[in-house]
Amino acid sequence: MNNNTNQQEISDGSSYPTLVVTKYMGSKKAILPFIAAELERLTDPGDIIVDLMAGTHTIGFALKSRCRIVANDIQRYSMVIGQTLLNYKPDPRFDGEALNHFKRYYTVNMRHLEELFGPGLSVERSLLSTKSNRHTTWTEYRDFCESYPYFMRPERPPGWDEDYLITFSRQRVEAYRTLNKLEPYNLFSLYYPNSYLGVRQCAEIDSLRYATDKLCDEWIPDHENEGYRSFELRCLLLSALIGVLSRANPGPGHWAAFPRVNQKNCNYLITQRRIPLLELFLRKVRSFEENLAEQDSRFTPHITKNEDYEVFMEEVHEYIRKARVIYLDPPYSQGHYSRFYHLIETLVRYDYPEISHAGRYRTDRHQSPFAHKEKVAGALGIVCKTARAAGTTLVISYSRGGIIPDQKAFVKILRGFYPRKKIEVKRISSEHSKLGQARRMKTEEYIFTCLP
Ligand SMILES: C[S@@+](CC[C@H](N)C(=O)[O-])C[C@H]1O[C@@H](n2cnc3c(N)ncnc32)[C@H](O)[C@@H]1O
Repeated sequence: MNNNTNQQEISDGSSYPTLVVTKYMGSKKAILPFIAAELERLTDPGDIIVDLMAGTHTIGFALKSRCRIVANDIQRYSMVIGQTLLNYKPDPRFDGEALNHFKRYYTVNMRHLEELFGPGLSVERSLLSTKSNRHTTWTEYRDFCESYPYFMRPERPPGWDEDYLITFSRQRVEAYRTLNKLEPYNLFSLYYPNSYLGVRQCAEIDSLRYATDKLCDEWIPDHENEGYRSFELRCLLLSALIGVLSRANPGPGHWAAFPRVNQKNCNYLITQRRIPLLELFLRKVRSFEENLAEQDSRFTPHITKNEDYEVFMEEVHEYIRKARVIYLDPPYSQGHYSRFYHLIETLVRYDYPEISHAGRYRTDRHQSPFAHKEKVAGALGIVCKTARAAGTTLVISYSRGGIIPDQKAFVKILRGFYPRKKIEVKRISSEHSKLGQARRMKTEEYIFTCLP
């Protein structure tokens, strides 16, 4: 446990370490001992575990001191988290000159944005002010949020100068898309103000993102002799930024929707939007570094990829053959991760995407076959076939009430590829937090172990 953090990122209660970068649907943190003990039973120290859909890398982090991890996920943010959790060595620390330069870059971008988004920032400043003579009514704050401009807003927002509205125009965004890394960085300020974050918070995220690139692209390459490594440091800083977005999120642990201001939630939203993100970011970096310093692995570098599972299995076929276990933890409900976690995907890609829907999702979202009733058996079959052909044990975790509804239905699919005596099933009862709903749902978690 770390005393410097405002959230407990490491807990040793289970004897398996955890480091939570963001809240994540289907994270195995709550049932980690159940899954990790099974993987431990099936492996010897130094064996390879392939984590096919690694998400927030709960399993890899828990077992990286025992096994070599080859991890994959279709979402780019997952690879960033994986690099940090599995491979980052906090030596040297992100401190001293590197930190000073980072803060300088942050300030340069922030100054630009303070000019560019001045009108919005100044109204927000007065609405969020903590001065006792200023009381913001919930309708005032709602009207500000509802009438605020953003890129691709379908209707013209009332009350803003034409010059200010041009800032959010397609023409400007096209220029940012074409001229990659055009300055200042302002994607979040154009896309998400007064949705998942406040106006100033968007500018802070843009400036933190800018400082990350600037430091890793320009300053670090000249200081590699001091032990800094661009790619690793970039992943650590992006992971901390993901952590910041997760903490500042007014929603329940994903970004499928943001709350509209109303009488009930107004104070809460204002409190969230007052959180200063630079300070939060620096605390996250420090706490991640401290935690990672305690969780070394002699098997680094572990491998992290960002592919569709099918492409990945072909690409790393040698590892699949050599691995002792393939661990599959697929989506089990109809919601697509690409929708729930679009915001952190865009943070990592920073590519000024097309967006749609009230939730401002990127339009190029991946649709997983595991989240489709008609496709799930075929998708599962591809993994079974590959594991069998490679002679590698396959371990799958799944939840009752998913797209494949229960144990019987799941085993029926597995029986298309494995004889009954090769399939072992373990179960525990658990409660799902059902992000967004107060009531926790009782369910059962399964492990299906398919022996080669
Ligand atoms: C249940 S989550 C994994 C959770 C993870 N074990 C953890 O503890 O954080 C399922 C993951 O499958 C990934 N995924 C969905 N479809 C995929 C595909 N076709 N190829 C690779 N990954 C996929 C999602 O992005 C998501 O991170």
